[in-house]
Amino acid sequence: MAGAVHTVAVIGTGKIGELMLSGLLRSGWPVERLLATARRPARAEELTARYGVRVVDNLTAVDEAAVLAVSVKPQDAAALLEEIGPKVPADKLVISLCAGLPTSFFARRLPRAPRWSGS
Ligand SMILES: NC(=O)c1ccc[n+]([C@@H]2O[C@H](COP(=O)([O-])OP(=O)(O)OC[C@H]3O[C@@H](n4cnc5c(N)ncnc54)[C@H](OP(=O)(O)O)[C@@H]3O)[C@@H](O)[C@H]2O)c1
Repeated sequence: MAGAVHTVAVIGTGKIGELMLSGLLRSGWPVERLLATARRPARAEELTARYGVRVVDNLTAVDEAAVLAVSVKPQDAAALLEEIGPKVPADKLVISLCAGLPTSFFARRLPRAPRWSGS
């Protein structure tokens, strides 16, 4: 894929995160430009076996990826953002896939990341 230079990290790769991952791969996004995070080791192993994607911890994903697609359940979002929020610098693009969580929820918890795209 021409111009696919950014690394995209799916943070919390469950059903929707896996759909995003598989969709990107199907569209030609290079697997070496994708990262995934998972809470359970068995899920991490499953994702790597299925897609060849590198599964890393959340802070490594924040460090290495330019685009962070947050796809945890809404009830897990506060704990996740408590972990990664202070570490997300202003040059990252944060995309929320979390249905029902307003932009203000993220703005409070990602004080250094001013660019938004939410669902
Ligand atoms: N499913 C849909 O049709 C749909 C449609 C539109 C929008 N959404 C939105 O998409 C989001 C995800 O929904 P889903 O159905 O994909 O849920 P899901 O299958 O439960 O996926 C969320 C994943 O995030 C993982 N996770 C939670 N906390 C984490 C953390 N701190 N670090 C790393 N991984 C973590 C979970 O791990 P565990 O496996 O250990 O729980 C799970 O694998 C929700 O916010 C929902 O509102 C869903």
